[in-house]
Amino acid sequence: MGNNWPSHGGRPEQILPHLGLAAHSEVIDFSANLNPLGAPEWLPQRLIESLAGLEAYPDPDYSAACRAIAQHEGLLPAQVRLTNGGAEAIFLAAALLAERGASRATIVEPTFCEYARACHHYAMAVEALPLKQEAPEHEGFVLNEALALAAMRATDAVFLCRPNNPTGTLVERELIERMLREGQRHGSLLVVDEAFVDFVAPDERLTPLLARYDNLLLLRSMTKLYTIPGLRLGYLLGAEAVVQRIAALQLPWSINALAAALVEPLLADTDYHARTLAWLDIERPWLEHELRSLGLRVVPSCANFLLLQDSGSRPMSALLEHLARGGILARHTHNFTGLDGAWLRIAVRTRHDNTRLVKAVADWRAI
Ligand SMILES: Cc1ncc(COP(=O)(O)O)c(C=O)c1O
Repeated sequence: MGNNWPSHGGRPEQILPHLGLAAHSEVIDFSANLNPLGAPEWLPQRLIESLAGLEAYPDPDYSAACRAIAQHEGLLPAQVRLTNGGAEAIFLAAALLAERGASRATIVEPTFCEYARACHHYAMAVEALPLKQEAPEHEGFVLNEALALAAMRATDAVFLCRPNNPTGTLVERELIERMLREGQRHGSLLVVDEAFVDFVAPDERLTPLLARYDNLLLLRSMTKLYTIPGLRLGYLLGAEAVVQRIAALQLPWSINALAAALVEPLLADTDYHARTLAWLDIERPWLEHELRSLGLRVVPSCANFLLLQDSGSRPMSALLEHLARGGILARHTHNFTGLDGAWLRIAVRTRHDNTRLVKAVADWRAI
C-alpha cells in the first residue's frame, strides 16, 4: 500500500501506537463499518447449541445454507455459493477470472483494497478507474459512463463496490445495466461487491439482473449487518454455470459449521434487519447534519458510514489524532487510491456514541 498505515479498520491495537498512543487504550471504534446493534441476541445460545456438530465435517456444498439464501434472494440454490466472508468471495471472483485466462481488470476507485490484492494474487494487471469528485457543493463521487463502458470493453472485468466503501455512494442501476450489456458484447465480467447492500433499501439490490446477465457476479457479506466479522460469513451470487465453476475453485470446507448453521436463522430474523434500517434512517441524517454544521464536508451516503473532509483546509490527520486522544477511532484513508489520507471515514453508530463524536469534532473546531 506504499505506506505503513494499517490497511483495514477495526484494528485499534495497530492504529493507536501508530498515532503514538497506548495500544490498550479504551476506544469507541468508528473505524469498522459494523452494525452497532450488535449480533442478534439469540446468536450466542445458537452457537452453543451448534457446538455438538463440530465433531462432523460440514456439508461441503453447504446445501441448507445455499437453499436459504436462494429462497431469500429469489434464485436457484445452484446460483449461490457460501463463502468465508465477503473476502473469500472477492478472491474467488479473481480466481475465476484467472482460470478464464484474464490478464487485466479494472477497479473503480477509491474502494476496498482487497480487489486489487486478489487480482495481484492471481497475476492480473489492475487499472484504476477513478470516481470523479464533484464540486464541493455536490460532494459526491460519480462514475463517468464513457470511462465505465470503455473499461468493460478494454479489460476482462470491472470490480465495483455498491454502495461503495469508503464513499457510501451508489452507481445507478441503469449505468450498471449498460455496463453489463457492453460486457456481454465484449466477453467481460462485472463484479459488484454488495457487502453493504443490507443497509440500503431492499429494492436497490442487483439480484433481479442475474436473470438477464450471466456476466454479473454479486458478492455479499453477512459480517457487517449481523456484526459477526470474527465468525466469517458471506456468499456470492451469479449465473448457475459461473457459480458452479467457482465452486470447483473453492478450498474445501472453507466455512466452519458454526457460521454455516447461522445462515438460515439470520436470514429469518427480519425483525433485526428492520430495526437496523430504522436505526440508520434516524442516525445517518442526524450525524450528517451535525457534522456539516461543524464545517465538515460529508459525502452523501447510502450506507452505514460517512466520508468526511474539512471544508476549510485543516488536515484530516489532525482530526484523526485529536479523536484518538479522546478515545474515538476513525478510519484513515491513506490506502484508498485518490483519497490518500485527505479524508476520514466514520461508521454511523448509536446516538450515544455519535453524540460523543460530534462533541469531539466541535472541540477540535474550537482549538
Ligand atoms: C467492501 C467490502 N467488501 C468486503 C469486505 C469483507 O467483508 P467480510 O468480513 O465479509 O470478509 C469488506 C470488509 O471491510 C468491505 O469493506
